[in-house]
Amino acid sequence: MDYFLKKYTSPKDREGRVKDFFDELQKKYTKRDFEIELEIGCGHGHWINAYSESFPEKICIGIDLITKRIFKSNLKKEKCKNNNLSFLKTSATDFLDYKPKCLKISKTFIFFPDPWPKKKHHKRRLIQFSFLETLWSHSTNNSQLFFRSDHDEYFKWSKNLFEMSKHWELENIDLPFEHESYFQKLLPDFKSFSAKTL
Ligand SMILES: C[S@@+](CC[C@H](N)C(=O)[O-])C[C@H]1O[C@@H](n2cnc3c(N)ncnc32)[C@H](O)[C@@H]1O
Repeated sequence: MDYFLKKYTSPKDREGRVKDFFDELQKKYTKRDFEIELEIGCGHGHWINAYSESFPEKICIGIDLITKRIFKSNLKKEKCKNNNLSFLKTSATDFLDYKPKCLKISKTFIFFPDPWPKKKHHKRRLIQFSFLETLWSHSTNNSQLFFRSDHDEYFKWSKNLFEMSKHWELENIDLPFEHESYFQKLLPDFKSFSAKTL
């Protein structure tokens, strides 16, 4: 069980945190429905901070399981004065399960997700058929997804699930913005693919 689920064992508690986050966001933008761009597993927030600074018209969210990483991400955000960016410590599953349905995701970014290399841990991988279906149900028409990994086997696994998915198709779309994430700096030998919703 990951740290986040250990700390917030009660689903009610986790649901409340995600719902409060979105209540605040809807107040801030003074509307209930808008499109968001999401980085799942944003780590220290290097990439999404730089991205949101370059696209001030976008409403960007970075999520991660680890408190310290979200803390550092928020420090960077304050330095850059990125008013269009918010961070939340949460899991991808809770985020999607408790997000208001009227808020749709137009772009998802997943960079260097944990590869869980041992076979017995593959079930912990983020990319699963069920995840692709849930993410699709929260995404706009023609929503785009960008994936990047240094781990060959997980890269193939993920690309293959997108290829076989009823909800996504692989499409060669350029990443709208290049900037090294923390892990990209450490692991410069990586591969990327992109997909869009069907
Ligand atoms: C290897 S790091 C990559 C961080 C960042 N994307 C980068 O490129 O520097 C993977 C990150 O994903 C986060 N993570 C793993 N599973 C997650 C999940 N289910 N929901 C949200 N974040 C998750 C981890 O806490 C970790 O910070």
